Amino acid sequence: MRRRIVAGNWKMNTTYTEAMALVDGLKESLTEEVVGETGVIITPPALYLSDIVESLVENPYIAVAAQNCHEKESGAYTGEWSAPMLASLDIDAIIIGHSERREYFGETNEACNTKISQALNNELAAIYCIGETLEERKSGAYMDVILKQCEEGLAGFIADDMDNIILAYEPVWAIGTGETASPEQAQEVHAGIRAWLTERFDAETAQDVSILYGGSCKPGNAAELFAKADIDGGLIGGASLNAADFTAIIEARTKA
Ligand code: PGA
Repeated sequence: MRRRIVAGNWKMNTTYTEAMALVDGLKESLTEEVVGETGVIITPPALYLSDIVESLVENPYIAVAAQNCHEKESGAYTGEWSAPMLASLDIDAIIIGHSERREYFGETNEACNTKISQALNNELAAIYCIGETLEERKSGAYMDVILKQCEEGLAGFIADDMDNIILAYEPVWAIGTGETASPEQAQEVHAGIRAWLTERFDAETAQDVSILYGGSCKPGNAAELFAKADIDGGLIGGASLNAADFTAIIEARTKA
């Protein structure tokens, strides 16, 4: 059975004090009733991961992920961090291929493929992001773009690997813009990805992969997105920086 998941991507936001206060707020608001069967993941800046993992040791609800890792295990790559380093902090997952990484840091599908291997080889889950730009949406060829990202990013993996890979569909035109894909637009893409997973792997694997939606998902629109059959949860940017909003989105997932 696939998991319902709400993940928060803090991006390059929060000072150390703000980050720890946000974690404290979530520890308070994420009760058993709010969380239910929903898997909750937070993705703070890498600098704070160690302290945040430590502060969540006793918390049964909140898993911790990183926003990126390098393609190599170690070496002369000043300013970077690797999957083995992240694994040594006892985190749970790594976001890979976020559209901001693709746009500003030139990350290709091939680089994402290597990074997903790094995550899996180090026993971390990968949250692999895919999604089309506004021009690609307008051209009508968006599904081709998304399936190419799936094909190339997931090249070489077998069905068993998909137990540790979560997909996040994030239309670039909806990220941080306040414009959300309609539930119907998102469902169409999620169903298309699942159909592709069925062909590429098998029907059981396709049914078991969690596919999250990301792009201006907020307390006000989360429930209608999560009501769709193939939308298993959300990858939340801006609204994950506010404990009350993030909690409301988790609650919407638990209740949908
Ligand atoms: P947003 O970001 O919720 O602020 O649109 C989503 C994301 O980039 O993961």
